[in-house]
Amino acid sequence: MGTSLARSVALFTLLLCLLLPSHGHGKLSTKFYAKSCPSVAAIVRSVMEQAVAKEPRMGASIIRLFFHDCFVNGCDASILLDDTSTFTGEKNAGANTNSVRGYEVIDAIKTQVEAACKGTVSCADIVALASRDAVDLLGGPTWNVQLGRKDSRAASQSAANANLPGPGSGAASLVAAFAAKGLSARDMTALSGAHTVGRARCLFFRGRIYTDQNVNASFAAARQQTCPQSGGDGNLAPFDDQTPDAFDNAYYTNLMAQRGLLHSDQELFNGGPQDALVRKYSGNARMFATDFAKAMVKMGGLAPAAGTPTEVRFNCRKVN
Ligand code: HEM
Ligand SMILES: *[C@@H]1O[C@H](CO)[C@@H](O)[C@H](O)[C@H]1NC(C)=O
Repeated sequence: MGTSLARSVALFTLLLCLLLPSHGHGKLSTKFYAKSCPSVAAIVRSVMEQAVAKEPRMGASIIRLFFHDCFVNGCDASILLDDTSTFTGEKNAGANTNSVRGYEVIDAIKTQVEAACKGTVSCADIVALASRDAVDLLGGPTWNVQLGRKDSRAASQSAANANLPGPGSGAASLVAAFAAKGLSARDMTALSGAHTVGRARCLFFRGRIYTDQNVNASFAAARQQTCPQSGGDGNLAPFDDQTPDAFDNAYYTNLMAQRGLLHSDQELFNGGPQDALVRKYSGNARMFATDFAKAMVKMGGLAPAAGTPTEVRFNCRKVN
């Protein structure tokens, strides 16, 4: 009698642990799926190869998706949850709406990963792996991705609006926004080097090319061709007009020539404390590559607040 009761209690507890959503992230490891889903890295890589071959900008878009996931209650795939009639997620936060791209690529990866290893790999880990591959496929550094994140069952549009820095930000507020996530000014300056790839809309750099004083005149004139003073809000320009789809250190060289596309970009080279590091990264591609990779791993370690209910989602767009 006693032993069978004890056994039932033990079994019940075990079931409860398996069934209830867990909280936060456990300790991450590069080997997290070594036994449970050994093919995950190869699946992510092959879908990313196709996506970037089809459209190089997609690499940039996935890198940004990871940043916007991690900065809002940790890297928990909260950004991937679709809005419904009863749920407001992060997709329509100011910095994300009509701006963040690549959701379909994450879906395509998830479909293949689910077929190989059902209910095993989190959407948050897929985004972390995909962004590593994106950087590599565009010619940037690579690194080992820490894995074992869980997907949150919640999202916060207000946190997205509050935590994601805007293109009009000054240097001090950029430093503060990253410090709030435990990232240093050096991490911030290195991570901003992702703006060596991808595109921005006229709406976000109009002020920069018409009213900033510290802008390169020929650069401003060139950008004004496709970004008029009124209208054309959605017109795109490359962050780096020399090598727009190459993940190199040209972002820093551009800043030194006052060719930063966003006001916030040029704030990193405007006579302030970040100038020295911008000069170093501009002259030392390896130093930038190393620091960028380290900072991506650090950003990738941002976890949801303790107590956040989490799970491994079956479909990245909705909770189970
Ligand atoms: C430092 C503060 C940052 C600000 C103020 C900022 C702001 C922006 C803005 C306004 C855009 C253009 C969005 C649009 O036109 O719709 C953009 C694009 C982009 N951002 Fe940032 N960003 C920051 C940091 C980062 C970081 C840390 C990363 C990644 C590590 C990143 C990666 C990208 C990429 C790759 C694009 C191009 C995306 C595409 O072409 O689809 N950004 N960012
Ligand atoms: C403006 O950009 C051009 C082209 O990169 C560069 O040669 C020039 O030095 C820049 N001007 C300033 C003031 O930095």
